[in-house]
Amino acid sequence: KKISPMLIFIFGGSGDLNYRKLNPALFNLFMDKAMPDNFSIVGIARSEYPGNEYEKHLKEGIDNFSRRKDSHEEWKNFSKHITYLPMDVNNEKEYAKISKIAKDTETKFGVHPNIIFYMAVAPQLVPTIVKNLGTLEICHDTKCTRIVIEKPFGHDLESAKEMNKMLAKFFTEEQIFRIDHYLGKETVQNILALRFANALFEPIWNRNYIDHVQITASETVGVEGRGGYYENSGALRDMIQNHILQLLCMIGMEAPVSFDANEIRNKKVDVLNALRRISKDEVQNYAARGQYSGGWMQGEKVAGYREEKGVAPESNTETFAAVKFFIDNWRWQGVPFYVRTGKHLHEKTTVLTIQFKPAPAYAFPKEAAETWRPNRLTISIAPEMDICLRFQAKRPGQTMILSPVDMVFNYQDEYDGEEPEAYETLLYDVMEGDATLFMRADQVEAAWEVVMPIIDVWHARKPIDFPNYSPDSWGPEDAEALIARDGHNWINMA
Ligand code: BG6
Repeated sequence: KKISPMLIFIFGGSGDLNYRKLNPALFNLFMDKAMPDNFSIVGIARSEYPGNEYEKHLKEGIDNFSRRKDSHEEWKNFSKHITYLPMDVNNEKEYAKISKIAKDTETKFGVHPNIIFYMAVAPQLVPTIVKNLGTLEICHDTKCTRIVIEKPFGHDLESAKEMNKMLAKFFTEEQIFRIDHYLGKETVQNILALRFANALFEPIWNRNYIDHVQITASETVGVEGRGGYYENSGALRDMIQNHILQLLCMIGMEAPVSFDANEIRNKKVDVLNALRRISKDEVQNYAARGQYSGGWMQGEKVAGYREEKGVAPESNTETFAAVKFFIDNWRWQGVPFYVRTGKHLHEKTTVLTIQFKPAPAYAFPKEAAETWRPNRLTISIAPEMDICLRFQAKRPGQTMILSPVDMVFNYQDEYDGEEPEAYETLLYDVMEGDATLFMRADQVEAAWEVVMPIIDVWHARKPIDFPNYSPDSWGPEDAEALIARDGHNWINMA
């Protein structure tokens, strides 16, 4: 589907996000013929890029990070649409340059383009930029002008509310696109198809048949030079408050009656609103934290978190977090959702596991099977992309011996070609004005509200055992204990 003429301003045009993700995503959309005939991209930052230096900088990003690098010719055609605007975003007078560009672009295109302002800058710069943009006439056009906000969206509930209030002063909710890049992943979007385009799963998708759910988002990397940012964030804020709670919503939500953006988001926010609010006294029963020490990661020596650049030598920031959530509604009452995430863990994987209850009665001889809870649906988001249904089968032979087997749907085997990257999907949706995959103000606030007691308690009570897990492990013992108390284990794929 062709979209309307487009003018995209990227604040943070010289930054990492544009270099690695945004520009490659726009280039891939261009190669897929998904960009409009008329479009302009304006990178904005403070630095000067004389001559064609800016274009060269972005090309390098394509060579390193684009999923398709090919054609020199294509890049030449694409880069004609890119310009660079050096600008001090703290100087309100300079914003007139933006209005001028918008006017000139309108003249060039012969129609008023849709305008996107993408905030790919440090969060502390966002309020200044938003306030200044808010004074421009082009931003009052609520149909044609949109603003994209990157994470982190606030540092806690209070700052998220403030941010929402500030945005609402200058833009309507329909103009605001809050990014959670997990929602752009193909395998994440497919959860809705799996659940609501099939009649098979929904009847058993509840407390009567599901024993518990696990969500793991583990990473092998450490903080990768982002110590300065991570030190004030930690695993709970960086991954659970946003990405993991969004995955939990996809598993937990009721069926939408349409694919309308607000309908889907209403159903998701219902899950967040139903998540059990725990008191501060209960935090230790529901959450565990960890921090990696120095050690070895697949044969390579790695520094401990406290030795990373930008990190305090006695830092109490968690690089691992595990939480047990409950959705207190009719569908999910009593079903635990165990989630965990961490840096420098044994494997890079994002995977959701739905563990079904055991068969209600088992006529087979005891020696027939070792596993009495075989029924499990595993949804691998990345890097593996598959859905696997595990069930019990009889092994060939004279005796009745049972063992679990897997029925697998794998993306690469099933579909030719590569899937678009999350940012391609999300940028396309912003251009189309479709907010389904973006966070609404109330979703963000509800998600903060849920994790606040844990944040508060962890902040107030210093951990006594940090660092408490080695690189290349599955995290601290406390996380094992959290789930073992309920008679379960974390399911590790590797
Ligand atoms: C980001 C976090 O939002 O998500 C990073 O800030 C993390 O710390 C990243 O590494 C993980 O994303 P993905 O898509 O690689 O799982």
